[in-house]
Amino acid sequence: MRNGLTPIFSGAIAIHAPIRTGARIRQANIANVTDTNLISYEPATGEELWRGPVSDVDAAVSAARRAWAPWAARALTERITVLRAFANTVRRDAETFADLIAREAGKPLREARSEVDAVVAEVDIAVQAYAERTGKKKFDAGVGSSAALRHKPHGVMVVIGPFTFPAELPCGHIIPALIAGNAVVFKPSEKTPAVGEALVAAFHAAGVPADVIQCVIGGPDEGKALVVHPGTGGVLFTGSAQSGIAINRKLAANPGKIVALEMGGNNPIVVTDTPKLADAAAIIVQSAFATAGQRCTAARRLIVVESVYDALMAELVPLARKLMVGDPLGEPQPFMGPVIDNDTAEQMMESFVALITAGGRSLLNMRRSLPDLPFLSPGIIDVTEVADRPDIELFGPLLQVIRVPDLDTAITEANNTRFGLSAALIGGSPDDYGRFWANIRAGIINWNAPTNGASAKTPFGGIGISGNHRPAAYYAADNSAYPVTSTEMDQPRATIMVGLRP
Ligand code: SIN
Repeated sequence: MRNGLTPIFSGAIAIHAPIRTGARIRQANIANVTDTNLISYEPATGEELWRGPVSDVDAAVSAARRAWAPWAARALTERITVLRAFANTVRRDAETFADLIAREAGKPLREARSEVDAVVAEVDIAVQAYAERTGKKKFDAGVGSSAALRHKPHGVMVVIGPFTFPAELPCGHIIPALIAGNAVVFKPSEKTPAVGEALVAAFHAAGVPADVIQCVIGGPDEGKALVVHPGTGGVLFTGSAQSGIAINRKLAANPGKIVALEMGGNNPIVVTDTPKLADAAAIIVQSAFATAGQRCTAARRLIVVESVYDALMAELVPLARKLMVGDPLGEPQPFMGPVIDNDTAEQMMESFVALITAGGRSLLNMRRSLPDLPFLSPGIIDVTEVADRPDIELFGPLLQVIRVPDLDTAITEANNTRFGLSAALIGGSPDDYGRFWANIRAGIINWNAPTNGASAKTPFGGIGISGNHRPAAYYAADNSAYPVTSTEMDQPRATIMVGLRP
């Protein structure tokens, strides 16, 4: 057990929160940008975790502009060697990274450890993707010439990261961008600056030059300044649809910049006939409540066909009630840590109440037992009777259940969203899955598997307001380099055959 851990019981839900003496406890947001400093607070304790000066965006971009060409001029193998050294640095310091991620993002240590493993694995995936997606090709173009396809870096890339996976998701852009020969100006979420700073320090320790990867500390103002900065060649963003759309709007008149937007979802998980309802319940819990529901691929809507509704709820609700919510570093490990800050906890509680007021039926009450800390227990509401269900991403451990007569209605209901990131079908036959797959609008479509836990070995992105058709992960290579086609001859050999005066 973590030092000073005190279990606090509220109804059926046990919340294990660490209580420390002498800590400076802040009761509102965890992240605070003052004029000169950014401060992050550990969500599980309210203690100040990190503080640092807000960066000068112009200075960072100018330094990156000077640095990228020499980096791009190095041999590809040399850049790859440096990035492999980065993977080794992270592997060596894995426990320190995991501890920092768990503290700053509030996710259980075991999840933070998987995130660190994923960062290490990203280097090999990006090396392979670079070769396969953006490699060189040469072919005969006739009359002694050849045609070549090569790729060039954009120059300075802006990477704006989320707090949910503060290391893995930004690295999914940073590593491909560096391999391609770009310099990167990385702005971590203002809620997870310490992880961002530690990552960039690891790149430097591995040999990436200081100005080739820089960490810009700041809040929305610094983010906006980076997005519109004329010295950058692209923006690779992971975060909310609202922020992504704002970025898109700001750059609408600037087609020269590549913009990759990975945004959220109002993701459906559909359950149809299956004898394996206990397994279905486990998949739903993993989809909706892993990382306290703070994944862009989390299931937000559970759509259940009438025939299995009662039996499924009899498995799901008791299982969700048993989930331990507590200190991310606690032993035994909780299923969920806190949400990221008190504002989020408050908004989630308000959303729960609003859905009930609109006609929802609570199957499992969401609770917030500690008023000053953002621990939430999972909530499940049947919203079948709610007219005009809001099509928004409720970013926390809240699952809305919709009962439907059959699979076709379930598919229609699943598509009843502007988002299109992730969707899953549980149960059914191969034909049912074929119908589901063909008709669902999403970038990730799974069968008998959670909506989340996407692999970095495949493209990661959605449609609708979940993305702009520039997926990350395996396809991030495409966003880091642009194709250049050349027709080439080793000597000028040309004659004008027609149209000449004698
Ligand atoms: C995320 O959804 O935020 C990360 C990837 C996943 O779990 O699928």
